Amino acid sequence: MVSEKGSIIHWPAETLWQELSPYLPGFSVEILPSIDSTNTELMRRARIGQTDPVLLVAERQTAGRGRLGRPWHSDHKQLQGLTFSLGLSMGRLDLSGLSLAVGLSLASSLHPDLKLKWPNDLWWQNRKLGGILIESVSVLESRYLVIGVGLNLTQPDVSGLRTPAAWVEELDPALDAPAVLARVLAPLVQTVQAFEDQGFAPYQSAFLKRDALAGRELRLSDGTRGRAAGVDARGALLVQTPTGVKSIDSAEVSVVSNV
Ligand code: BTN
Repeated sequence: MVSEKGSIIHWPAETLWQELSPYLPGFSVEILPSIDSTNTELMRRARIGQTDPVLLVAERQTAGRGRLGRPWHSDHKQLQGLTFSLGLSMGRLDLSGLSLAVGLSLASSLHPDLKLKWPNDLWWQNRKLGGILIESVSVLESRYLVIGVGLNLTQPDVSGLRTPAAWVEELDPALDAPAVLARVLAPLVQTVQAFEDQGFAPYQSAFLKRDALAGRELRLSDGTRGRAAGVDARGALLVQTPTGVKSIDSAEVSVVSNV
């Protein structure tokens, strides 16, 4: 495939492999021109016991998936987004706050003013720049995690998006897909490995600095209305309601809108 600028894409596969293999024994890097979904593929592999650490990048996804069963549009002739999944094992079973820590890592790698919309969106000036879809399979006493990341690189040509889009070119026109991948991947692996030891708590204050919902009036999918009041040490969203502070686990409820 050619990039959004019309040139052949030169992915930094070898460099990433060399950089990350010391931290992820058995690591491999795969770049595919097309697949249904990088998350679906790594989950399929995990279910048949293929659980070595891997980075799977797809230039095109024919059935990209977002959270809550939504589609992630990435079936274009030219590269408009970066779509990849990182598969790796984690000894920790409690994954509360992991999507927030992952979002924080991506945001920190990309721009000081990039915000995070709980629980898994990267926001730029009140528009969605990217999202995270984390899935996992239990393997004996540990989990195999599939951390899927989709980032818009250029203005998406998809109509009818639920949320207005932002794109990486707005942050820095020099950042193309290989450059973004090279910039975010090593910090992402470090974050996931630190999370394995310490969970979300060490990231709480950094998250609050990038919290796109802070102070906003919210309506949640369970009907609750209230004002966003940050996140707790496990990454649950805190919402000030007329009857007190409610803590919202991402598994239970989603933010439907700002009211
Ligand atoms: C969301 O915003 O709801 C999450 C979007 C996650 C999209 C990425 S693209 C790479 C990986 N493969 C998928 O099918 N989904 C994730």
